[in-house]
Amino acid sequence: MPRHVLTAVAWPYANGPRHIGHVAGFGVPSDVFSRYSRMRGDRVLMVSGTDEHGTPIQVQADREGVTARELADRYNRVIAEDLQGLGLSYDLFTRTTTRNHYAVVQELFTALHANGYVVERSQLSAIDPTTGRGLPDRYVEGTCPICGYDGARGDQCDNCGNQLDPQDLIDPRSKIDGKAPQFVESAQFFLELPAFAEALGGWLQTRSGWRPNVLKFSQNLLDDLKPRAITRDLDWGVPIPLPGWSDRTDKRIYVWFDAVIGYLSASVEWARRTGDPDAWRPFWSPDPDGRAPDGRYFMGKDNVVFHSVIWPAILLGASGKPHGTPGPYGDLALPSEVVSSEFLTMESRKFSSSRSHVIYVRDVLERYGADPLRYYLSVAGPESSDTDFTWDQFVTRNNTELVAGWGNLVNRSLSLVHRSTGAVPPAGELTGADTAVLQASREAFATVGAHLERSQQKAAITEAMRVVGEANKYLSEQAPWKLKDGTAASDARRDTVLHVALQLVDDAKALLTPFLPASCDAVDRMLGGDRPWAGLPELREVDDLDGGPGYPVLTGDYETAAVWQSRPVRVGQPIAAPTPLFAKLDPSVVEEERRRMEEGGR
Ligand code: MF3
Ligand code: ZN
Repeated sequence: MPRHVLTAVAWPYANGPRHIGHVAGFGVPSDVFSRYSRMRGDRVLMVSGTDEHGTPIQVQADREGVTARELADRYNRVIAEDLQGLGLSYDLFTRTTTRNHYAVVQELFTALHANGYVVERSQLSAIDPTTGRGLPDRYVEGTCPICGYDGARGDQCDNCGNQLDPQDLIDPRSKIDGKAPQFVESAQFFLELPAFAEALGGWLQTRSGWRPNVLKFSQNLLDDLKPRAITRDLDWGVPIPLPGWSDRTDKRIYVWFDAVIGYLSASVEWARRTGDPDAWRPFWSPDPDGRAPDGRYFMGKDNVVFHSVIWPAILLGASGKPHGTPGPYGDLALPSEVVSSEFLTMESRKFSSSRSHVIYVRDVLERYGADPLRYYLSVAGPESSDTDFTWDQFVTRNNTELVAGWGNLVNRSLSLVHRSTGAVPPAGELTGADTAVLQASREAFATVGAHLERSQQKAAITEAMRVVGEANKYLSEQAPWKLKDGTAASDARRDTVLHVALQLVDDAKALLTPFLPASCDAVDRMLGGDRPWAGLPELREVDDLDGGPGYPVLTGDYETAAVWQSRPVRVGQPIAAPTPLFAKLDPSVVEEERRRMEEGGR
């Protein structure tokens, strides 16, 4: 039985185009893992969509002078295009404003309420003293009561990562006019987090394979579990599905409660679109032998609390644990791993679109293509510490590692074959050097794979590129271009070296596919591959399944030829002249891009 893998990718807010900091966290790592898993033969379901409710959307809508719905429509499409361009292999990238999503959110809310895990209470909520209107959590700023950081927001402190309520802040002030907000009593529904403390603690104790800082951070969060309000005084969001509440226009479910449920609703939507409405189940519940599916959640570190505390609590409560009855989706599996990255800074500055010191994904794609960016973020991204992106390093890595390393290996090997035999030559007797390099290459599948299993993507790509380096060294040392005196012995040795070189190229192509799908697909074709090697996502216009407005989704056919193993190259396969895989960048790019940043982008 193949393993069922759910790749759950954090949902980007539909409030602007994505910058490279965003995709360093949720984007490239989730795709690398999904592609690797599919190559291993796992059944993978990779889902996400745009997060379209809540303050971040309303704030930007006000700025752009449009409604929240118009803003969401605009950026849902822009973001889908950004992610498509990056080659992220979503089985379904949808949005949180579908009728299907509303229904699934309401079903889970109702199940939690029926089990006693969602209860009504009165809470102080912030009012703008000038306008008298409700002030969203993010619009209240002040000093963090936990770490003392002065720029904490009413929903969260970005310094220590803790979740906050606006009234917890010391010296609270409105972000709009700097005045102290008024706090008035208002009825809200709360998720009873303390009821899950023991279950969550026990679960986290079994999660030894996580990135250490993510696990430690998550465990610390359990020390201070309080009931969390999961509704807000807002008119944009999923209505509260209880009598007396559902037709109120001033109360909505809190954006984070609805967004995390997107993982399940998108799985259900995907299944409904395949024609088998139950197809989501093996990705969420144990198989008949009791084997749990593998659920990996990818995000930036500011999302961890929602995925290692709140979402697991929702899943437990909706499954009737520790007490109660399972809701309509049965027993839902907790995440196997919360894979979180740290922050990406750029040229020493923290990314912030408002300060316009950002690099948009689409600009990089347009100027340099997807794989150089995917490569950089994989080899030098913020996997386990905050990391600075510099154009200087981008250009250097592109030129020395992609162009002069991997690209050169492909180019040299294929040109030599094209110019001599024109087809994959047979190997004669192998020398010690031949066997050693072939063995190192074959063994890399296990080492690189083990790193990818453990979310050590930097180590994985570094190891794959080390094998590429060895292959280049082998080729230089054996110098098949010098074997041209025309004797049978010299021709045979040349053929053997070229055969070995093509095998190394073929292996490296497979090892690098999760990271560089488009260029590895091109290499596969140069080696004579006649069916797609690595699938790329398509943007498709679909109808809402339940009669709402239509929308674009990302989906694709990823059941391709790529496999995670060394496979013997086919002797006699014609080899055409190779075309370059990567373009060398002129060093002037560094200054040019820095200037663009200073001028505020594009
Ligand atoms: N929209 C959130 C952010 O950009 C992430 C939501 S992830 C979710 O930080 F899936 F939980 F929704
Ligand atoms: Zn803090």
